[in-house]
Amino acid sequence: MASLIDRLHWGAERLGGKRALAVAAQISEAQLYRYLEGDVAIPHDKLIALAEAFGADPAWLLGGRGSWERPRNRPRPEFRGALLEEVQEHLDLLLIEYQRKFPPALRSRMVRYLYEGLRHEEVLNGTPMQLDRFKMLQYVSFLAEIQTEAEMDVLREAFEILEYNDLTPNYQGHHQLLTTWCNLLTRGLRGYYNSYAGQVYFERMGQNLPADTIAELHMLTEQAMKILKKSELDWLDAGCGNGRHLAHLHKFMPNFRIKGLELSDSGVELCKKLESSERLPIGCVQQGDMRLAPYKTGSFDVVFARMSLFSLPALNGLNIGFYETFEELKRLLRTKGLLIGIVPAGNNEFKIIERIQYFDNNFLENNLKGGKIVSISGQPHSSRAGHRSMPRSMGMRDPLKLFIWQKD
Ligand SMILES: C[S@@+](CC[C@H](N)C(=O)[O-])C[C@H]1O[C@@H](n2cnc3c(N)ncnc32)[C@H](O)[C@@H]1O
Repeated sequence: MASLIDRLHWGAERLGGKRALAVAAQISEAQLYRYLEGDVAIPHDKLIALAEAFGADPAWLLGGRGSWERPRNRPRPEFRGALLEEVQEHLDLLLIEYQRKFPPALRSRMVRYLYEGLRHEEVLNGTPMQLDRFKMLQYVSFLAEIQTEAEMDVLREAFEILEYNDLTPNYQGHHQLLTTWCNLLTRGLRGYYNSYAGQVYFERMGQNLPADTIAELHMLTEQAMKILKKSELDWLDAGCGNGRHLAHLHKFMPNFRIKGLELSDSGVELCKKLESSERLPIGCVQQGDMRLAPYKTGSFDVVFARMSLFSLPALNGLNIGFYETFEELKRLLRTKGLLIGIVPAGNNEFKIIERIQYFDNNFLENNLKGGKIVSISGQPHSSRAGHRSMPRSMGMRDPLKLFIWQKD
């Protein structure tokens, strides 16, 4: 393969044809043909996109030297039998305790997924994984929603793509698989909150806000009224959990028209109890997925999302997962409306096994299109009040970030 064009032809064949290559590299077929004819020079960004599309090292595509394969992201961790045994033992105990049965093929995929994910985490963290019963219960509550071997394979493949595939994973080339993965993550999340682990979480939260969370909420309502220059606000709590913030607003902010959207049956049930005891207006909370919210465009002045935006990954260049959720919440806002988010602070990675997307200022400032960040603080006023009792594996002891974003 002496020339760049030969290498491109080879790459197109590898991927299943020129059309497949054009789609994966996100260029038009006509443009690809022009490149293949040698009619025009290929800009650098297109070269990289083409190389990534068929998994090649861009340096090889350009100059033909070295191996065509892109260098691997990370070396795979060495096998650690003790961790595998621990995963198996914990899983066996839980399945007996909760009288759950999984077909053997599904169960062995579950073990492999958990082992590989946890092993990956412990190598990244540089410390052996401490597995406890509750942590394992959380993983299993999520995995119990994964019903077929094919679905378990999607989880593993997504893990491979994100962690081991390439230096710069070609997400576009895996659009379908990653979309299915995000759907499974949401299904698993709902199962998690509906499970015993979720009940424990909602119970520990309680339906009365602690003092510092009240202060945080009042600070935010003041700020929202000031920015929007009005005191009657349509306020949506997206991912409202057991309804504790809404109940507080209902009591102390009678000038707000409040709504809540919640994914889990258990959260919605707790909110309905608040409705029947008049701590929330009847019909205030609806069950649904923030990615497809059951409200008309421009229904709200404020969308408040406290620790509910972090369960889906933010994959650069793909409008799925976090980006899809953000677009939907933006749709719900009126012009100049505010999205108030409280999210885990970190370096933008998505921790796969824990299912937590971390955010930094740079990400929030540059990726929330169609508006601007009004303020970001490293730590909300509440000093993470209400999260103290949350399990470690939900990442709630991580520092949080509070941001206010205003739609154009
Ligand atoms: C960590 S809890 C926080 C609950 C509440 N905001 C609070 O601070 O008490 C996250 C909540 O967001 C909900 N959630 C997550 N993803 C969601 C989605 N796609 N649509 C609706 N609710 C979602 C979960 O069901 C869960 O109740």
